[in-house]
Amino acid sequence: MVAPTIAHNRVEVVHGVNLDMLGQRDPEQYGTMDLDELERHISDWGGELGLQTRFFQTNFEGELVEHLHGLRGMADALIINPGAWTHYAWAVRDALEITALPAVEVHLSDVKARESWRRLSVIEDLCVASVAGRGPDGYREALELLRGHLAAQ
Ligand code: DQA
Repeated sequence: MVAPTIAHNRVEVVHGVNLDMLGQRDPEQYGTMDLDELERHISDWGGELGLQTRFFQTNFEGELVEHLHGLRGMADALIINPGAWTHYAWAVRDALEITALPAVEVHLSDVKARESWRRLSVIEDLCVASVAGRGPDGYREALELLRGHLAAQ
């Protein structure tokens, strides 16, 4: 069933460094789906929730920063998986703050249960929620959380 339309329904889904290599990375941590497949699922789940999704991936930090700057007025909410930038890229954090959109941080793997350097997220406190360790389903959860957030606005 398709959920009723909400006025603010544009969700930008942003992937950072190395996430273009999904499908070729450690399947124990990241599963077997490649990024195209993952994006198709996210798009379908978004559609079921009445959300419009748009996608962006880059391996260049400055490109991610500029993309985030450009989202003001172009999106209503954000799902972001910055990859390893999560743990140290303070410029990505600043850009996310400038973007000022409700954001959910998603990680395919359970970052808090892996190496200690993965436990820090420099964006966590800017996000409405963080979802980790649920594989692709984590994105569905993020869409549901954002739908609730946007519908309440
Ligand atoms: C990741 C977790 C990060 O620690 C890692 O560097 C990634 C992927 C995840 O989705 O589980 O590239 O963000």
